[in-house]
Amino acid sequence: MPVIISKSERVCRPISLDLLRNRLGSLMGSYGARNSDVSLVLLDDKEMAEYNEQYRHRASSTNVLSFPVELPLEVGMGGDGVEDLGDILISVETAAWEAVDMSISLHDRLTQLIIHGFLHLMGFDHERSEEEAQIMWDKEQQIFHDIKNVRRESMIQLAINVDHVATVRQARGVSEPDPVVAAGICELAGASGIVVHLREDRRHIQDRDVRVLRETVKTKLNLEMAMSDEIIDIALDIKPDMITLVPEKREELTTEGGLNVVDQKNKVRKTIAKMFKAGIPVSLFVDPEEKQIKMAAELGATFVELHTGRYCDALTGKERDEEFELIERAAELAFESGLRVYAGHGLDYRNVGRIAALETIEELSIGHSVISRAVYVGLDQAVREMLDQVTLHSLGQ
Ligand code: PXP
Repeated sequence: MPVIISKSERVCRPISLDLLRNRLGSLMGSYGARNSDVSLVLLDDKEMAEYNEQYRHRASSTNVLSFPVELPLEVGMGGDGVEDLGDILISVETAAWEAVDMSISLHDRLTQLIIHGFLHLMGFDHERSEEEAQIMWDKEQQIFHDIKNVRRESMIQLAINVDHVATVRQARGVSEPDPVVAAGICELAGASGIVVHLREDRRHIQDRDVRVLRETVKTKLNLEMAMSDEIIDIALDIKPDMITLVPEKREELTTEGGLNVVDQKNKVRKTIAKMFKAGIPVSLFVDPEEKQIKMAAELGATFVELHTGRYCDALTGKERDEEFELIERAAELAFESGLRVYAGHGLDYRNVGRIAALETIEELSIGHSVISRAVYVGLDQAVREMLDQVTLHSLGQ
């Protein structure tokens, strides 16, 4: 376990320790120190001030302190023969206001401080001379740039929405094609979840489908639904692995916009409470807007799914870039607020790449493009091709 992270109980901000562990791990890897040990300790200002006083005789907090192991190598080795490089202490409180000052995310500021602390462990020192300070600064910039451009270490997940298999079935009012069989094929092809939308008008997915899927889905069943009493009761009875609250209009062809969580906060809060009581995590399908994300976090949702429709439907490159930036910023904000982030709607084999490359997004929910392609190449192949696209971009290959 090369990176050991501890977070003081006094630090109450949501922080992705996995993200920091990955970033420090890849930094250590680039110094050939992947198998060494580094301890990262996240503190608040008061605790940091105590360390600063004790070890540097300065009566104030600071952003980062690092303590290299000064013993000869053999002594610095743990019992398992792993080299101990030392400890990096960071005040999350100071990092947070520095992040605001610099207009960057908290995780990015923490990453910069980790790099700074790690370079100290590696023998760099900005206090010895101006020349060394410049060398260290340049190095920090370079490493930060490289780390930001290294994609996540794990692949983004792909959940497949099988509603349109049911759409074809309902066109004839018979029993085929069966979304339950389709879901099994998607899972065998590598999908990490199955999504169905039980609409109030039952235009595609039927109650029976959700009940049978509950029994057969081995990965994760995500039930999309409106906040209607009838559907809420069904969800509480069937208990999918999670639900996604979406707005629903009878006359729409598909879900048109995100849920207005701000306007419906009381209803959303009540629905989340009911689901939580039944042990069902809730995702809110929202437009990539700051106020919606902030409200989703305030209401205690576990996930948000960012609506990618406007990005997918953009007619010009400029418009698409603008929509992409909104999604990127919203994903960052949601992630920083402690929400788990999904995205979906309108994603296809061509436009999925940029979204899949966003490190803050955990899972994509895709239906129409995959089911359409399945008509030509088969469902197994269509899912695998989408997985290839997603992997290619999410791992930055
Ligand atoms: N996410 C949500 C909340 C949706 O309503 C839909 C459409 O059913 C999707 C994702 C998938 O969109 P598409 O079928 O365009 O891939």
